[in-house]
Amino acid sequence: MGTRLRIHKLTTKKQASDACAYLVCKQIIDKPSSVLGFATGGTMEPVYKSLVAEYKQRKLSFAESVAFSLDEYVGLAPEHPQSFAYYLQKRLYQHIDIPKQSIYFPKGDIATDDIAQQYQQNLDKYGPIDIQLLGIGVNAHIAFNEPGSDFNSLCRLVQLSTSTLTSNAKYFESNTMQASKGITMGIGSILKAKHIVLLAVGQSKAEAIRDMICNEQSLSCPASALQSHPNVDVLLDKDAASLLS
Ligand code: PGA
Repeated sequence: MGTRLRIHKLTTKKQASDACAYLVCKQIIDKPSSVLGFATGGTMEPVYKSLVAEYKQRKLSFAESVAFSLDEYVGLAPEHPQSFAYYLQKRLYQHIDIPKQSIYFPKGDIATDDIAQQYQQNLDKYGPIDIQLLGIGVNAHIAFNEPGSDFNSLCRLVQLSTSTLTSNAKYFESNTMQASKGITMGIGSILKAKHIVLLAVGQSKAEAIRDMICNEQSLSCPASALQSHPNVDVLLDKDAASLLS
């Protein structure tokens, strides 16, 4: 089956994450007023480290850019250490010159259907997103769009799957309650981005990557929705690419 996805098989995790950071740098140099979509998760941590280093070294500026988070845990305030708003603040926003008022994220502690709709309205107002970073779940979710999610879905509240709860338990300390719902950009919201960059590293992602690239599109593999998008870069390390022929 033909796919328009551009697959980049890199050797190490560092090469793959540096390549991801490079694409953000290139975007901001080409268009300082870019609308940026940022993902969270363990995979993205070295990306933001590399991006902040490049920002300092090359004297880049995010002063004219606008940033959107992909998703958030319902129930977690932006100050909560496990919230994605906190993650992006600590790893990226506090190190760069992006204005506070240009940073958008769904507030998990007040997340309702109305808040999700407002988030979509802001995306539509400032968008389309110029570059959207994405990780992938072991169950092939993108953002918190779990298997079964409609490919046209927009921002909304969702129940997290057992697979996602298991994968993300490591980020919650044993004495804190793990969030079980999310507020997320929909697959349809993500597909509106002009350029999508999906980064996957490690053996645990190999099956999801194979299903996304090699199988027909299916609701059971949310990431396969990306096959319909004309401008997607998939950055993989050796392990994540290990089931591709
Ligand atoms: P991870 O999460 O980088 O922590 O594996 C990725 C995702 O769930 O999208």
